[in-house]
Amino acid sequence: MSETKTALVTGANKGIGYEIAKGLGTFGFRVGVGARDKARRESAVEKLRAAGVDAFGVPLDVTGDRSVADAAQLLAREAGRLDVLVNNAGISGEMGPGWVQDPTTLDLDLVRTVVETNVIGVIRVTNAMLPLLRRSAAPRIVNVSSGVASLTRQADPAIEIGPVMAAYAPSKTFLNAVTVQYARQLAGTGVLVNAACPGLVATDFTGFHGPRTPEQGAATAIRLATLPDGGPTGSFAEDAGAIPW
Ligand SMILES: NC(=O)c1ccc[n+]([C@@H]2O[C@H](COP(=O)([O-])OP(=O)(O)OC[C@H]3O[C@@H](n4cnc5c(N)ncnc54)[C@H](OP(=O)(O)O)[C@@H]3O)[C@@H](O)[C@H]2O)c1
Repeated sequence: MSETKTALVTGANKGIGYEIAKGLGTFGFRVGVGARDKARRESAVEKLRAAGVDAFGVPLDVTGDRSVADAAQLLAREAGRLDVLVNNAGISGEMGPGWVQDPTTLDLDLVRTVVETNVIGVIRVTNAMLPLLRRSAAPRIVNVSSGVASLTRQADPAIEIGPVMAAYAPSKTFLNAVTVQYARQLAGTGVLVNAACPGLVATDFTGFHGPRTPEQGAATAIRLATLPDGGPTGSFAEDAGAIPW
């Protein structure tokens, strides 16, 4: 089997996911650019290749069973195994007036849509890719979470944690809880599963507001994707270190 390691990054056509793909490519990974839109995917692959990354496109909508199963088959053909999976694709869901998601008037379909992408999508992709990850000597799974997932921070009025986001923030708390379940189930198998917060990053997601660049936002995910054997699993981290649950 090839010495070259292969990574899959979901939602890699732009923003933080694109920079995670680029960073892993710089580390010497072959990178599968998971993206649902053909034109956006092809243009990201082209840009990454121009930057010297060994990138290939992986059609992937994390909300579709068929799409995810096809992506796993494509990776099996392309690489025969997977060394790193970064579950980066995510959505905030529509924001209400004043740029909040008010829990008292929340549209239930909005909650379902956000959870379908940010949580169920991660489970769907992870389980489809696990047979390929298990063929790696050092499999790593990184779930891109957010500091707003921290109940400790949310519950402390002294901490500035941004607007009330009653669909998005709990979806990332749910994702953290799922991350811990995977880490427990896979303990001792060599598969390390961790959650990363990119910080507040200027991307489409934030209307390009935020002090951090997508490249800075990618750093913790890249660090967790390249952990040495015996590294942490079931952790939740940002650049500055562990985030309280
Ligand atoms: N920006 C921040 O400040 C911040 C802070 C904390 C956490 N995060 C997290 O970081 C991750 C990346 O966010 P970002 O800021 O880079 O946002 P972004 O620029 O909006 O990128 C999101 C990516 O996810 C993809 N995506 C969304 N739904 C998808 C689906 N169903 N299937 C496949 N791909 C899908 C998007 O694809 P399309 O182009 O096709 O829409 C896009 O590639 C998200 O999980 C987000 O929650 C961001």
